Amino acid sequence: MLLNNEYKFLDLPKVLDDRGNLTFLQYPDQVPFVIKRIFWIYDVPSGEIRGSHAYKTQQEIIIALSGSFDIIMDNGKIKRKINLNRSFQAIHVGAMMWRRMENFSTNATALIISDSKFKKEDYIRDYNEYLSYLNIIV
Ligand code: TYD
Repeated sequence: MLLNNEYKFLDLPKVLDDRGNLTFLQYPDQVPFVIKRIFWIYDVPSGEIRGSHAYKTQQEIIIALSGSFDIIMDNGKIKRKINLNRSFQAIHVGAMMWRRMENFSTNATALIISDSKFKKEDYIRDYNEYLSYLNIIV
Protein backbone atom coordinates (compact mmCIF):
# COMPACT_ATOMS: atom_id res chain seq x y z
CA MET A 1 0.00 0.00 0.00
CA LEU A 2 1.48 3.29 -1.10
CA LEU A 3 0.75 6.34 1.00
CA ASN A 4 0.31 9.89 -0.18
CA ASN A 5 3.60 11.69 -0.72
CA GLU A 6 5.53 8.48 -1.48
CA TYR A 7 6.72 6.55 -4.49
CA LYS A 8 8.16 3.12 -5.06
CA PHE A 9 9.81 1.12 -7.81
CA LEU A 10 7.99 -1.82 -9.34
CA ASP A 11 9.84 -4.58 -11.15
CA LEU A 12 7.51 -5.89 -13.81
CA PRO A 13 7.55 -9.50 -15.01
CA LYS A 14 9.74 -10.28 -18.02
CA VAL A 15 9.00 -13.11 -20.38
CA LEU A 16 12.32 -13.57 -22.12
CA ASP A 17 12.17 -15.10 -25.55
CA ASP A 18 14.53 -15.36 -28.52
CA ARG A 19 11.68 -13.90 -30.56
CA GLY A 20 11.68 -10.78 -28.38
CA ASN A 21 10.79 -10.03 -24.78
CA LEU A 22 7.39 -9.35 -23.28
CA THR A 23 6.38 -7.48 -20.13
CA PHE A 24 2.92 -7.05 -18.67
CA LEU A 25 1.04 -5.62 -15.77
CA GLN A 26 -2.37 -6.46 -14.46
CA TYR A 27 -4.59 -5.58 -11.55
CA PRO A 28 -4.16 -6.44 -8.70
CA ASP A 29 -0.78 -8.18 -9.05
CA GLN A 30 1.45 -5.46 -10.44
CA VAL A 31 -1.00 -2.55 -10.51
CA PRO A 32 -2.46 -2.05 -7.04
CA PHE A 33 -5.36 0.08 -8.24
CA VAL A 34 -8.15 -0.28 -10.77
CA ILE A 35 -6.95 1.34 -14.00
CA LYS A 36 -9.17 4.20 -15.14
CA ARG A 37 -6.94 5.91 -17.71
CA ILE A 38 -3.78 5.39 -19.71
CA PHE A 39 -1.94 8.11 -21.57
CA TRP A 40 1.47 8.53 -23.09
CA ILE A 41 3.85 11.37 -23.78
CA TYR A 42 6.00 11.21 -26.91
CA ASP A 43 7.74 13.38 -29.52
CA VAL A 44 9.11 15.55 -26.72
CA PRO A 45 11.50 18.12 -28.19
CA SER A 46 15.00 18.12 -26.75
CA GLY A 47 15.23 20.11 -23.52
CA GLU A 48 11.47 20.21 -22.83
CA ILE A 49 10.01 19.56 -19.37
CA ARG A 50 6.75 17.72 -18.75
CA GLY A 51 4.63 16.98 -15.73
CA SER A 52 5.85 19.66 -13.37
CA HIS A 53 2.99 19.31 -10.89
CA ALA A 54 1.40 17.18 -8.17
CA TYR A 55 -2.02 15.59 -7.89
CA LYS A 56 -4.18 15.94 -4.80
CA THR A 57 -5.63 12.43 -5.01
CA GLN A 58 -4.51 10.68 -8.19
CA GLN A 59 -1.91 7.94 -8.14
CA GLU A 60 -0.18 6.61 -11.20
CA ILE A 61 2.43 4.28 -12.59
CA ILE A 62 5.06 5.64 -14.97
CA ILE A 63 7.05 3.50 -17.42
CA ALA A 64 9.64 4.44 -20.05
CA LEU A 65 8.13 2.29 -22.77
CA SER A 66 10.92 3.30 -25.12
CA GLY A 67 13.96 5.54 -24.84
CA SER A 68 14.73 7.22 -21.55
CA PHE A 69 13.95 10.25 -19.43
CA ASP A 70 14.54 11.54 -15.92
CA ILE A 71 11.89 12.02 -13.26
CA ILE A 72 12.59 14.37 -10.41
CA MET A 73 10.58 13.17 -7.43
CA ASP A 74 10.05 15.78 -4.78
CA ASN A 75 8.06 15.17 -1.61
CA GLY A 76 8.41 18.76 -0.43
CA LYS A 77 11.51 17.88 1.60
CA ILE A 78 13.73 15.65 -0.51
CA LYS A 79 14.28 15.74 -4.27
CA ARG A 80 15.58 12.71 -6.13
CA LYS A 81 16.38 12.32 -9.80
CA ILE A 82 15.58 8.92 -11.28
CA ASN A 83 16.51 7.84 -14.78
CA LEU A 84 13.95 5.50 -16.34
CA ASN A 85 15.34 3.63 -19.33
CA ARG A 86 14.00 0.05 -19.31
CA SER A 87 10.49 -0.94 -20.29
CA PHE A 88 10.22 -3.49 -17.44
CA GLN A 89 10.86 -0.84 -14.77
CA ALA A 90 8.01 1.20 -13.39
CA ILE A 91 7.50 3.78 -10.69
CA HIS A 92 4.33 3.89 -8.66
CA VAL A 93 3.77 7.50 -7.68
CA GLY A 94 1.39 8.30 -4.84
CA ALA A 95 -0.76 11.39 -4.66
CA MET A 96 0.88 14.59 -3.43
CA MET A 97 4.31 13.91 -4.95
CA TRP A 98 5.67 16.81 -6.94
CA ARG A 99 7.14 15.35 -10.11
CA ARG A 100 8.90 16.71 -13.13
CA MET A 101 9.97 14.77 -16.23
CA GLU A 102 12.90 15.96 -18.32
CA ASN A 103 15.91 14.93 -20.40
CA PHE A 104 13.79 12.91 -22.84
CA SER A 105 15.83 10.95 -25.36
CA THR A 106 14.88 10.93 -29.02
CA ASN A 107 11.95 8.55 -29.48
CA ALA A 108 11.22 8.35 -25.72
CA THR A 109 7.68 7.32 -24.81
CA ALA A 110 6.45 7.77 -21.24
CA LEU A 111 3.46 5.56 -20.46
CA ILE A 112 1.29 6.68 -17.53
CA ILE A 113 -1.32 4.44 -15.96
CA SER A 114 -3.73 6.25 -13.69
CA ASP A 115 -6.34 5.35 -11.10
CA SER A 116 -8.55 8.30 -12.11
CA LYS A 117 -10.25 9.87 -15.04
CA PHE A 118 -8.80 13.23 -16.07
CA LYS A 119 -9.77 15.92 -13.58
CA LYS A 120 -8.10 19.27 -13.91
CA GLU A 121 -9.15 20.23 -10.35
CA ASP A 122 -6.88 17.46 -9.05
CA TYR A 123 -3.73 19.21 -10.32
CA ILE A 124 -1.51 21.44 -8.22
CA ARG A 125 0.67 23.34 -10.67
CA ASP A 126 2.12 25.96 -8.34
CA TYR A 127 5.00 24.72 -6.18
CA ASN A 128 4.29 27.09 -3.27
CA GLU A 129 0.66 26.01 -3.30
CA TYR A 130 1.88 22.40 -3.21
CA LEU A 131 4.00 23.09 -0.12
CA SER A 132 1.10 24.83 1.66
CA TYR A 133 -1.31 22.00 0.79
CA LEU A 134 1.25 19.46 2.00
CA ASN A 135 1.42 21.15 5.40
CA ILE A 136 -2.34 20.82 5.72
CA ILE A 137 -2.75 17.16 4.79
CA VAL A 138 0.49 15.34 5.68
P1 TYD B 1 -0.56 17.80 -18.48
O1 TYD B 1 -1.05 16.79 -17.51
O2 TYD B 1 -0.36 19.20 -17.99
O3 TYD B 1 0.78 17.29 -19.17
P2 TYD B 1 2.20 17.10 -18.48
O4 TYD B 1 1.95 16.53 -17.13
O5 TYD B 1 2.92 16.17 -19.36
O6 TYD B 1 2.91 18.39 -18.47
O7 TYD B 1 -1.57 17.81 -19.71
C1 TYD B 1 -1.34 18.60 -20.86
C2 TYD B 1 -2.68 18.93 -21.46
O8 TYD B 1 -3.36 17.75 -21.87
C3 TYD B 1 -3.60 19.67 -20.51
O9 TYD B 1 -4.25 20.71 -21.25
C4 TYD B 1 -4.64 18.67 -20.12
C5 TYD B 1 -4.66 17.69 -21.28
N1 TYD B 1 -4.92 16.30 -20.82
C6 TYD B 1 -6.13 15.71 -21.08
O10 TYD B 1 -7.04 16.31 -21.69
N2 TYD B 1 -6.35 14.43 -20.66
C7 TYD B 1 -5.40 13.72 -19.99
O11 TYD B 1 -5.64 12.55 -19.61
C8 TYD B 1 -4.16 14.36 -19.70
C9 TYD B 1 -3.07 13.64 -18.94
C10 TYD B 1 -3.96 15.65 -20.13
